[in-house]
Amino acid sequence: MDTSLQIESPSLSRRQLLNFITGATVAATAGSALYVAGKFFIPPVEKTGAGGAIVAKDILGNPIPATQILAEEPGSRALVAGVGGEPTYLIVKEDHTLDSIGILDNCTHLGCTFPWNPNDQQFQCPCHGSRYAPDGTVVRGPAPLPLKIFHIAVIDNSILISPWTETDPRTGEKPWWV
Ligand code: FES
Repeated sequence: MDTSLQIESPSLSRRQLLNFITGATVAATAGSALYVAGKFFIPPVEKTGAGGAIVAKDILGNPIPATQILAEEPGSRALVAGVGGEPTYLIVKEDHTLDSIGILDNCTHLGCTFPWNPNDQQFQCPCHGSRYAPDGTVVRGPAPLPLKIFHIAVIDNSILISPWTETDPRTGEKPWWV
């Protein structure tokens, strides 16, 4: 009898971390290593432009060209350094454009970072099991609130990330983080 363990969701893939280091990371597997990575590999905060927009960067502080992210598989999530250097998920749509909404990689329970699980189509927090739908709404607690979102725009091959201060389209209410 095979007694070897079947790991449902392997720890953060090497590719996910290495891509983030070199430009972007595509969430593909579940695990907890990103929590550690997210806490220690945050680049310096940069000054913000009009509307608080900043250019998406890798963890070394280098701007990430939009073409690099858009070359990823449709439906994938790319992790970049966003506003305040915080890890932010970008969503590559089926038509190889970026979704206009980005999602903060910071669990609303106790602040762990988390991977995207493409099989379940959920963000799944490894710390206490919270799960989020693709738009960041809570599917399963203990997370009490939806994930924070940002505006995403592409201009001249740069990815601009800016704070979301308007009505949260998921709740129809003022965002909890404003
Ligand atoms: Fe994510 Fe607790 S920090 S579930």
